[in-house]
Amino acid sequence: MTEDILAVSGISVTRGDVPVIHDVTIGVQPDAVTVLLGANGAGKTTLLDGIAGLAKTTAGSITLAGTALSGLPTYRRTKAGLGYAEQSRTVFKTLTVEQNLLVADNGSGDLGTAYRLFPELERRRTLGAGHLSGGEQQMLVLARALISGPKVLLIDEMSLGLAPVVVRRLMTAVGELTSLGIAILLVEQFANLALEIGARAYVLRKGQVVFEGPCADLLGDEDLLHEHYFGGVEAPADDDDTAGDKAMVEGEAR
Ligand SMILES: Nc1ncnc2c1ncn2[C@@H]1O[C@H](COP(=O)(O)OP(=O)(O)O)[C@@H](O)[C@H]1O
Ligand SMILES: [Mg+2]
Repeated sequence: MTEDILAVSGISVTRGDVPVIHDVTIGVQPDAVTVLLGANGAGKTTLLDGIAGLAKTTAGSITLAGTALSGLPTYRRTKAGLGYAEQSRTVFKTLTVEQNLLVADNGSGDLGTAYRLFPELERRRTLGAGHLSGGEQQMLVLARALISGPKVLLIDEMSLGLAPVVVRRLMTAVGELTSLGIAILLVEQFANLALEIGARAYVLRKGQVVFEGPCADLLGDEDLLHEHYFGGVEAPADDDDTAGDKAMVEGEAR
């Protein structure tokens, strides 16, 4: 078994002094997609923010390719090889596609990787980013996160508001990143699409890991997935939010 390139061990993360993540241990394998699932409010974004140094960790350790990240400011974590495509991150609409990439480039950047992955962006590189489709804008968000040359890329809900066909295109690109040697930790509401390209999966509930195992074990087993998301019988059937999330869990597979 190959060693994890990102090892998160027993971390707790707070939001404005409120504990949200409790004693979470997860590992990200090199050259693979690791999928992190969970209902709205489970703590996925808070966990990623804690790994990236954007939320306060109160316990545990984070190690990336042998470098201890805990306690380092975000930019040092970026330098160590951690990339982060944040939830609801947007593009600079008044800048061109290429300018968006150059802004993210701190001098060491390589636009070639971004353009190889997304030929759509290269074809539109002189276009104002505000004129891109929603899917293309999300490609640009991903491309920007690649400019720093990450070893591990955290991706948080990049498919929000996008059509399933566009999400599939993005998932394919994420899968391709692993063949470029970039390990991925993927948070995604279209659970089945994420599980298709992933190797290992985790499910978070109420700030704790409630499932760890191969993506294949969850793929196609909607009952099991639903149970891990919502805690089986505890989940109120008539709760609107919960019903919406269930639709998302099961949604795209059709
Ligand atoms: N900035 C914040 N301040 C206080 N509480 C927050 C903040 N952001 C999120 N939370 C709370 O932390 C919990 C986890 O939220 P979040 O990490 O965004 O979950 P997810 O990404 O899984 O939907 C929720 O209960 C949410 O209300
Ligand atoms: Mg979130």
